[in-house]
Amino acid sequence: MAKNTAEILRVNHLKKYFSVPAGMLHAVDDISFTIDNGKTLGVVGESGCGKSTMGRAILRLHEPTSGEVYFQGKDVLSLEKQGMKQLRRDMQIIFQDPYASLNPRMTVSEAIAAPLLVQKIYSRKDKAQIEKRVREIMNLVGLANRLINTYPHELDGGRRQRIGIARALALNPKFIVCDEPVSALDVSIQAQILNLMADLQDELGLTYLFITHDLSVVKYVSDDILVMYLGQMVEKAPSEKLFKKPMHPYTQALLSAIPIPDPDLPMNRITMKGELTSPVNPGIGCRFAKRCPFAKDECSQQEMVLTEEEPGHFVTCLRVQRGEI
Ligand SMILES: Nc1ncnc2c1ncn2[C@@H]1O[C@H](COP(=O)(O)OP(=O)(O)OP(=O)(O)O)[C@@H](O)[C@H]1O
Ligand code: SF4
Ligand SMILES: [Mg+2]
Repeated sequence: MAKNTAEILRVNHLKKYFSVPAGMLHAVDDISFTIDNGKTLGVVGESGCGKSTMGRAILRLHEPTSGEVYFQGKDVLSLEKQGMKQLRRDMQIIFQDPYASLNPRMTVSEAIAAPLLVQKIYSRKDKAQIEKRVREIMNLVGLANRLINTYPHELDGGRRQRIGIARALALNPKFIVCDEPVSALDVSIQAQILNLMADLQDELGLTYLFITHDLSVVKYVSDDILVMYLGQMVEKAPSEKLFKKPMHPYTQALLSAIPIPDPDLPMNRITMKGELTSPVNPGIGCRFAKRCPFAKDECSQQEMVLTEEEPGHFVTCLRVQRGEI
C-alpha cells in the first residue's frame, strides 16, 4: 500500500522473464521504486537493458513474472479484466515511433477518438460531443484544428507525436509511461515536444515514467533518475545528485560519454571494455563485472543487493557498499 499520500506509483521487486530457446531471458529483474504525484522518474540504460519491458510490465501490456505494482494504493497485478480496463483511463503510454503506433487508415480525429470509444466514454452516435472533445485535445497538444481530417502520412514526425500524446491524454490519465517519446524525432523538434510535455505535466498534474537512452534528455526532464543495466537497477537518485555524484561504475561510464559543450575541456571518457553478460540465465553476481574497471572476483560470486548509500541515493555495487570506490 502507498505509505505516502504524495506517492502515486509503487513498484516492488518487479520481474519480467521471457522464455527463449536458450532458457529464461531476464529482461526486468527485481526493480523497485516509487514515484510521487506530478513528478517524473527518468529511466536510462543501453538498448536492450529492459526499459520498455519494465514500462509495459507496469501497465500489464506484458504480464509481469512476479513483483507488485500499486497505483494510488491499488494492487494493479490483482485486478481482473474490468478493473484493468478502468485503470487504463488513469495509466497510459506514449510510444517512440508514433508512425508505427498509429493506424495509417485513421484520420487524426479517428485516432484521438478511438480511446474514448473503446472506453465507452461516448458511443459512435455522439458525433458532436466526440468532435468537441477531439478539438479540445488537439488544442491542448498544439495541433491545428484544420488537421482534424488528415492522415498520419500527411504529417511530419513532430505532429505525429502530438497525435500520440493526444491519444494518451484523451482519457484524462494521471500517469503516463513515455517510452522514448522524442528519440525518433529531429533534434530541432525534440525540444518542442519536450516543452509540450513539461507544460502538460504542469497544467494537468501528470506523473511521468520517462524512458530514454539519451542522458541529456533525461537530465532535462527528470526529478529522479533510475539507471538500468541488463534488467537490473544499478542506481537511483534525485537527478541533480546523480549527475553531480554518480556512484555506480556503470553510471560513471555513461555520464562520462556525454559530450561537453566546451571543446577546450577534456572529455575524460571512461571506455567500457569487455563482453556483455547474457541476459539469458545470467546467474548471481554483478552483471556489469565483465566490463567494470573496478571488478574483483567476489563481484561475480555474490548476490547483488540495492542499498541506500545517501538519503534517496540507491546503488547496487559491492565495492561502493564497502566504501572501496
Ligand atoms: N517479447 C519478447 N520476447 C523475448 N524477448 C524479449 C521480448 N521483448 C523484449 N525482449 C528482450 O528483453 C530485453 C529487454 O528488451 P527491451 O525492449 O525492454 O529493452 P530496451 O531497454 O527498451 O531497449 P531499447 O533501448 O532498444 O528500446 C532484450 O534482451 C530483448 O531482446
Ligand atoms: S559490484 Fe564489482 S563489478 Fe559490479 S559495478 Fe561494483 S565494483 Fe564493478
Ligand atoms: Mg525500448
